Amino acid sequence: MEKDFKLMVAPLQGLTETAWRSVHFRLFGEKQGDVEYFTPFIRAENGEVRARDLRDFTSELNHGMMLTPQIIFRDVDEWKLLVDTLAEAGAKRIDMNMGCPFPPQVRKGRGAGLLRSPDKLSKIADAMSQYIDIQFSVKMRLGVDDAGEALHLIDILNAMPLRHVAMHPRTAKQQYKGNLLLSDMKDFSSRLQHPVIFNGEITTLSDIESLSSDYTGVMVGRGLLARPSLFAEYRSGQELAIKKQEVAFLNMMRNVSTALEKILCGNTQFRDKMKPYWEYAPASLDKKIIKQGRKLGKIID
Ligand SMILES: Cc1cc2nc3c(=O)[nH]c(=O)nc-3n(C[C@H](O)[C@H](O)[C@H](O)COP(=O)(O)O)c2cc1C
Repeated sequence: MEKDFKLMVAPLQGLTETAWRSVHFRLFGEKQGDVEYFTPFIRAENGEVRARDLRDFTSELNHGMMLTPQIIFRDVDEWKLLVDTLAEAGAKRIDMNMGCPFPPQVRKGRGAGLLRSPDKLSKIADAMSQYIDIQFSVKMRLGVDDAGEALHLIDILNAMPLRHVAMHPRTAKQQYKGNLLLSDMKDFSSRLQHPVIFNGEITTLSDIESLSSDYTGVMVGRGLLARPSLFAEYRSGQELAIKKQEVAFLNMMRNVSTALEKILCGNTQFRDKMKPYWEYAPASLDKKIIKQGRKLGKIID
């Protein structure tokens, strides 16, 4: 195990907001101390930062965890609005989304759409010098349709003062499926002067181990929903038996459902919010338990 290897929890809209994050931190992150969490993207709407998004960053339930807010923006004006608001709310680090593949966002030039706007990115790179108290990072993809697109941005990215770039080595067109484009990823990383964090399809300890010599860290999303103990296992060097991994998943679900029941109104809202977590249940888990989870949102013991 590499001692300084960074472990990051990927932002997942609708899933890794305050309720899931704070439970995960309490059960699996706190003792590790060095796990970094990211909010799902925070956006501007009608010239203002969405209050709900902002609360996800400022909630007192985040207390103690290393939490970095992520922003999605289409140009330097939207970027400034978001950065100023978050700086005022106490952010010392801000992550910039340049990878969201959702077509309405891409069409408007946000997320992966920015990969095709070097002029807008250059303006943002210039504006960064006015925010010396904030450390920026980028989360991105290799391109929109073509894995070579990110290469055209290398000089602009190298000119930005970035903590790291987290790369999901797919194009936006691939969404969240299909082959990881590993040779394009290597090519990109070798030209980038910033530390590179690998993100995509990491589900086991050996996945993490195999990346630890080539990258500065890993960022894990769906793999942690299914196996919330993954980082704790990696840090302790002890792989949990499958049954214990299942217990860890169920323990997460119990605590997340308790947290959400307190804040959501009514059964339908609760079930709709919980259902997606059950889609990521470990494949080994008893099918009856998964069925009950999907139907009720929680397990009735
Ligand atoms: C439901 C869902 C929501 C996501 N929301 C965000 C988001 O808000 N910001 C972001 O940068 N990436 C988002 N992603 C992408 C993930 O952070 C991550 O890059 C992707 O899932 C690949 O990593 P994984 O294989 O470890 O899950 C989302 C992905 C999914 C499936």
